[in-house]
Amino acid sequence: MARRDVLSIALTGTVLIGAGSLPGTAHAQTSASSHAGALTHEDMLAARQRAEAIVAQMEPQEKTYLTWGVMPLPIRPNSPPPPEGAIPAAGFVPGIARLGIPNLTETDGPAGISYVQGLRGDYATAMPSGIALGASFDRDLAYEQGRTIGQEARAKGFNVLLAGGANLARDPRNGRTFEYIAEDPLLTGQVIGANIAGVQSNHIVSTIKHFALNGQETGRRFVDVKISDKAARESDLLAFQIGIEIGQPGSVMCAYNKVNTERGCASEYLLNKVLKTDWNYQGWVMSDWGAVPGLYAAWNGLDQQSGAGLDPDVFFDDTLLDAAKADPARMDRLDDMNARVLTGLAATGVLDHPVKPGGAIDWKAHADVALRSAQAGIVLLKNAGDILPLASDAKSILVVGGNADFGVLSGGGSSQVHGEGGPAFMRPLMNSGAFASMTTEQYQRGAPLEAIRKRKPGAVVRYRPGRYASDAAALAAQMDMVIVFANQWMAEGIDVSDLGLPEGQDAMIAAIAKANPRTVVVLQTGGAIDMPWLDDVAAVIEAWYPGQEGDEAIAGALFGEFNPSGRLPITFPRTTAQLPREDVPGMIAFDPIAFGSTVDPSLKLETDYNIEGAEIGYRWNAKEGHKALFPFGYGLSYTTFRSDGLKTDGKTARFSVTNTGARAGRTLGQVYLVSRDGKPNQRLVGFERVTLLPGETKRVQVSFDPRLLAEWNGAGWTIPAGTYGFALGENAEDLGATVTVRLKARSWRD
Ligand code: BGC
Repeated sequence: MARRDVLSIALTGTVLIGAGSLPGTAHAQTSASSHAGALTHEDMLAARQRAEAIVAQMEPQEKTYLTWGVMPLPIRPNSPPPPEGAIPAAGFVPGIARLGIPNLTETDGPAGISYVQGLRGDYATAMPSGIALGASFDRDLAYEQGRTIGQEARAKGFNVLLAGGANLARDPRNGRTFEYIAEDPLLTGQVIGANIAGVQSNHIVSTIKHFALNGQETGRRFVDVKISDKAARESDLLAFQIGIEIGQPGSVMCAYNKVNTERGCASEYLLNKVLKTDWNYQGWVMSDWGAVPGLYAAWNGLDQQSGAGLDPDVFFDDTLLDAAKADPARMDRLDDMNARVLTGLAATGVLDHPVKPGGAIDWKAHADVALRSAQAGIVLLKNAGDILPLASDAKSILVVGGNADFGVLSGGGSSQVHGEGGPAFMRPLMNSGAFASMTTEQYQRGAPLEAIRKRKPGAVVRYRPGRYASDAAALAAQMDMVIVFANQWMAEGIDVSDLGLPEGQDAMIAAIAKANPRTVVVLQTGGAIDMPWLDDVAAVIEAWYPGQEGDEAIAGALFGEFNPSGRLPITFPRTTAQLPREDVPGMIAFDPIAFGSTVDPSLKLETDYNIEGAEIGYRWNAKEGHKALFPFGYGLSYTTFRSDGLKTDGKTARFSVTNTGARAGRTLGQVYLVSRDGKPNQRLVGFERVTLLPGETKRVQVSFDPRLLAEWNGAGWTIPAGTYGFALGENAEDLGATVTVRLKARSWRD
């Protein structure tokens, strides 16, 4: 019977090793070049054999059980009750008990087990958002955060985590910038790959998503992005490729948008060619929710229709089976769809380690991961006159704005997580019906104001909401210093229209800075903003959406309890005029699309990614000669560092990093390709985190992923013969002396 009735590291890239003995220097520790037990491609191939043996035992009707799922939530007024065994969350696919296949219980997402309208009445550890993890440039932390979230998923009875956001930040106004890692393919691929490996260490599946080129939310269900194969392979696809190699996710979630006229979830190019043929990916492709245009998606590489109630029809049930019965080639494809789902389940251990709700969660240990992660993501952007850490002689402090008396900001949409006790404060921003919680600004508990007060028992600490600048500025003039919290809320489905802070916050900061130049700004933003008041404030800290421990992390950074070490994973442009597209295409023509709403398939919108091609962010700026407000890789510390002595053969680089200041701290060794045959050509080719005591020097070695030096030649990669210039960077713009290497031509296939 059809189920229609229930409808409703092996880290490539850098390693850090002690590199020979240098008098007077300590050696950096070996960082994890792979995480114990992480899956390999060989594990996936072995799992395929087991999967095929199970498929051979399936009755014809059973072959449509794993091929589609529902969203077990009251998404329509007349939604049927959730199927037996479903947990309120993003998705449910029934298993086949007689074959030992468990139900697939699917939850978002990348920053913790998501909240889904509060229907489960539980809470979860709310981690910092993806971009904060990107700012840590820390693969081990990414693994640890994934391991922790995966453990909570398992304990709550979920065996599929809809995590692994790997789209590149092509546009800082993209409403999902906060969910993704970076604008750079190496950083994104390595961080997300480690994160996925961490999730899957719990014997559950992680996805990597949204495949691919889901670079804006405006018109996301119909926008057609134009990009050449070469540019795609060298940018967004490379990020996914590296992430898949390292993490071996059981599943890939395809994207809403079109790519060169094909729907992402029905794209012969993306799914059959790039992913399954060129990369030999063995797991399954699940659709995004409401992204399936028709049965033909199955022939073009889609293996599973998710949240089928959001599509125009259930295409992957009897319709699929009937087509398969009529054509042996299509029956082979149906068998392959099943085998792929089972490969993902077998390889990760879902088949052998069934999940059960009600597992124990070590909340304290998980909160500690959330705290370390929030700390590692914080980027110190400005610190004039070393105003930070906060001077002990500041006797009166004014805290302003950002709802800092309630909590810390979190990102909206499907990835919204509720930390312990639920949100401290909620403000609906769009009436999205049953999905209103996704467009509601929400704050994690833990008020930064209290965290500051706690650390300043003898001082006067006052607060103003900052809704009106006048009272805050008048009071600011009377205080020793001011800490302004400024927020930019983001959510999927909605892009931000410019780089300004919303709701008059820029004017408010300017008025306060004029009244008191000893003003520190704490930003909680999903991406880049343009800071027209920058010259007038003393310090700026970027905390992103820092998760449930954000209050402690922010206060800890302000008071110098730890030394900030985050670096920008995206470029902060001076103005939108520096971006490849001055406006977000379609922003004025189309209204944001509420979740769950149907979309007129005849709507037309194109976004031309061939303008920048693979030269995204700092690479675009290098090509165009733009200077950023703050460049990629930028971040200050309470100490100072020097990197020097670069030696490279074009495959690996060795250099020294030294702490030249008076405090222990953590720096980021960054190696860039800067030129080929004298022409500017910038790419991050290696990076490594190094912790140093005052005066300490460590030698660092990183190895390059050769794809970063190469060009896509239509069938594989080519490093053209030539002279390649490399440089160490304090960031993407502050580069050391160029070291040139002559490289021979070399071509290879993946
Ligand atoms: C999002 C996905 C998410 C899915 C299920 C979609 O709106 O794009 O990232 O996993 O919903 O909640």
